Amino acid sequence: SMLLSEKVGQLMDWASKRAVIRMNGDKFRRLVKAPPRNYSVVVMFTALQPQRQCVVCKQADEEYQILANSWRYSSAFTNKIFFAAVDFDEGSDVFHMMNMNSAPTFMHFPSKGKPKRADTYDLPVRGFAAEQLARWIADRTDVVIRVIRPPNYAGPLMLGFLLAVIGGLVYLRRNNLDFLYNRNAWAFAALCFVLIMTSGQMWNHIRGPPYAHKNPNTGQVSYIHGSSQAQFVAETHIVLLFNAAVTLGMVLLHEAATSDMEIGKRKIMCVAGIGLVVFFYSWLLSIFKAKYHGYPYR
Ligand SMILES: *[C@@H]1O[C@H](CO)[C@@H](O)[C@H](O)[C@H]1NC(C)=O
Repeated sequence: SMLLSEKVGQLMDWASKRAVIRMNGDKFRRLVKAPPRNYSVVVMFTALQPQRQCVVCKQADEEYQILANSWRYSSAFTNKIFFAAVDFDEGSDVFHMMNMNSAPTFMHFPSKGKPKRADTYDLPVRGFAAEQLARWIADRTDVVIRVIRPPNYAGPLMLGFLLAVIGGLVYLRRNNLDFLYNRNAWAFAALCFVLIMTSGQMWNHIRGPPYAHKNPNTGQVSYIHGSSQAQFVAETHIVLLFNAAVTLGMVLLHEAATSDMEIGKRKIMCVAGIGLVVFFYSWLLSIFKAKYHGYPYR
């Protein structure tokens, strides 16, 4: 068995290297289970190996890393609480010992005594957002963690874009503000609003997802989130563009059918409209299929 000071020293050493300490069965028994302890440990039991195909584990892990890093780099950081993770493929004995049969599971091991009922995080009810985990930790310990996410520039960018469009319109028509009575201008503004809302900009604003995800092992960047539970900022921009292209195709088709331009131009508009609708709609469907696994149709 280890002395308390040895344990704290060891944990501080690991915590200085990575915010979430990876534990196997041996480390878990010595540093989390065995007394004496004067520190809390939050443990994520998970299964991150690709062959386990646990999509939720990956998402929960990302949030957990955000939480642990927010604590690790905050000015309030102390040796009162540590963040650890046990992967099923590195510590299956721990899973058996804890009688654990689902992943991911978050548990708090208090500095004194055994974990109580409320020390197991209610994941199905509360979700795995870092803010929710922080609230739970504040309940179970006296440690308050302010979650800090990587900055998100999508909101200001979109607002800037809208203001630029409106400013441009006003500038072009500065001598004659009749455009305020122009149905096309209002239709265009309404369309922008719909595209912004249906592509998930509001969701970005509320949840603050990362712009894209870079796989630390392969260096590959993915712009589309692999599940229907979440989306990256880049993804919402892609969806916005595709929706806009489909709409443009529809408008072109409509104009081709109703305007009194010469027939040649209308034919070109018609073909371009069909092309835009067909290609961008099928690309939208491809994104949907990539996110919604098990969609049965080609
Ligand atoms: C726990 O005990 C160790 C060793 O006595 C000490 O260094 C550490 O500061 C203590 N931690 C807390 C949170 O009191």
